[in-house]
Amino acid sequence: MAWYDMFSRFYDASIEAHYREQRALAAEALDLRPASVVLDAPCGTGQSFPAFRAAMGEEGTILGADLSPGMLREARRRAAAAGWSRVHPLHADAGTLTLDALREAAGRDVRPDRLHVFLGMSVFPDPDAVFANLWSLLSEGGRCVVVDVYAERPGLQGRMVEVVARADIRRRFWEPLERVGRDFEHRSLPTRAAHGGTISLATATKG
Ligand SMILES: C[S@@+](CC[C@H](N)C(=O)[O-])C[C@H]1O[C@@H](n2cnc3c(N)ncnc32)[C@H](O)[C@@H]1O
Repeated sequence: MAWYDMFSRFYDASIEAHYREQRALAAEALDLRPASVVLDAPCGTGQSFPAFRAAMGEEGTILGADLSPGMLREARRRAAAAGWSRVHPLHADAGTLTLDALREAAGRDVRPDRLHVFLGMSVFPDPDAVFANLWSLLSEGGRCVVVDVYAERPGLQGRMVEVVARADIRRRFWEPLERVGRDFEHRSLPTRAAHGGTISLATATKG
């Protein structure tokens, strides 16, 4: 994750404005409740935390997993600056993350009832396997939201996005969720040329 360690220094400045609206829509689609436990993987610099927090208040728990220590440092800084409790960024590979690791990070017995995968499926090295692991951590009846960029044939901007984000935006990222989830829905989100492809949001329930 050496690239993302470096990227973490300018990630928020370069990315935030491009995804603000989509982040808000993803948080809304999670249908958060005051005592929800959200697993945000990858959490990056924690850019989605404020939207979760606003929807859940003090009672909710955020478990943010990321493989890049640099991105996590920013996520921790964000949580500390806001004075949030129950926000736990942890260093983990989303493909091998365990419930024990989540419990250790939270310091208590937790089980995610919301799974948020924002700009992760295009970046994970083996998205099917990583998603299967994340899905296994979600409780029965839990809700999952996956958001990413897709282009069947990326143009110049799409290829630039792939280089900058170390991503593969040709992945049909919603399909792993579609295969396992109940009440699956998939819709487009507001998209601009700078995104390099179409942004869309997929949701489904477990069990
Ligand atoms: C494009 S960023 C998205 C971050 C965040 N979800 C957001 O919306 O800003 C991709 C993130 O995936 C993380 N990442 C890549 N592979 C990972 C893995 N196997 N496990 C956990 N995090 C991973 C990177 O460190 C990086 O923070």
